[in-house]
Amino acid sequence: MKRIGIAGATGLVGETLLRILEPGPHRIEDLRLFASAKSAGTKLKFRDREYEVQEVDPEGFKDLDVAFFCLEADLARKLVPQVAKHCPVIDKSSEFRLKPDVPLVVPEVNASSLKGHKNIVANPNCTTIPLVVAVNPLHQRFGLEKLWIASYQSVSGAGKAAVEQLSYENEFVALRRTPDSKGSPLGPQIADNVIPQIADFDAHGHNGEETKTTRESAKILGLPNLKVNSTCVRVPVSVGHSLAVTCRFSQAVKVKDALHVLKDAPGVVLRAGNDYATPIDCRGNDSVFVSRVRQGAEPEELSLWIVTDNLRKGAATNAVQIAELLKE
Ligand SMILES: NC(=O)c1ccc[n+]([C@@H]2O[C@H](COP(=O)([O-])OP(=O)(O)OC[C@H]3O[C@@H](n4cnc5c(N)ncnc54)[C@H](OP(=O)(O)O)[C@@H]3O)[C@@H](O)[C@H]2O)c1
Repeated sequence: MKRIGIAGATGLVGETLLRILEPGPHRIEDLRLFASAKSAGTKLKFRDREYEVQEVDPEGFKDLDVAFFCLEADLARKLVPQVAKHCPVIDKSSEFRLKPDVPLVVPEVNASSLKGHKNIVANPNCTTIPLVVAVNPLHQRFGLEKLWIASYQSVSGAGKAAVEQLSYENEFVALRRTPDSKGSPLGPQIADNVIPQIADFDAHGHNGEETKTTRESAKILGLPNLKVNSTCVRVPVSVGHSLAVTCRFSQAVKVKDALHVLKDAPGVVLRAGNDYATPIDCRGNDSVFVSRVRQGAEPEELSLWIVTDNLRKGAATNAVQIAELLKE
């Protein structure tokens, strides 16, 4: 991985990608950074050099080993197929995730799905990634039948503008004043609040994030008929997504056996007993933290608390892991 392009290098995921690659083992000889026309000419520091950001142009990706796409879905739809003519593209948007000929990859779970890829690989949603990293080892052992998910998602999951909105609103709330949330990328006021909507509702009342977690988990786990009840909620946390999950298996499961499985599960940091992880604990870390493993209402059910840094394992770290697999 010596020649790399990043589209969306000035955004939260693009910047996180640079910070992850910076101390890494890769000898990067050609780094090309792209964003909107607004950012063209901006300089970003990487290792001991400054790199000038260019306006994104598919021709700019010629002769690269890999391109990381950190743009919204409408831009990815237009640009990714053109860039994929030059080099493999790892796309972080939702655009290609459910296409049958595009692998949707979480390396700890389904690395083998990369075989025969056609130069476009999709990176899953930032809530789906920690969910499947934690649940797949249990599924392999006990046979997963159904999931109940409630997510508590940080505002950075909605990009840079959302983080700025939270900071602005926090200042008003600290002074006991009401911020102006008109035009907020998150909809209603988020400071001092909780919003049970992430993306648009469908005809059945499911918000976009609920549909993504349901469909993407089924694809990654290879369980097309998996039953998922998902409620996705935005909370006033800057970084770190949390999930309260109950899994139903095809057999009775003892907590001690589940802990034994999770202890050695790839990508998982387990906290046992009453010790638990919070978003602050996971920030800047590449693991999925699992804690509060306990029996559900039935012997076949287990409940878990899962937390991860949505910008790292939920986005950029997962993409770097995919790139490393592509190189192999
Ligand atoms: N944030 C997360 O936790 C997360 C997790 C998983 C997946 N994702 C997905 O990753 C993608 C990027 O998310 P993000 O959080 O990094 O968003 P962001 O902070 O809003 O950054 C968006 C990036 O897109 C660029 N951009 C915007 N309009 C453009 C245009 N017309 N042409 C070229 N570039 C343009 C921006 O460049 P300028 O600075 O020049 O405007 C910026 O670099 C999205 O598809 C998102 O759904 C995000």
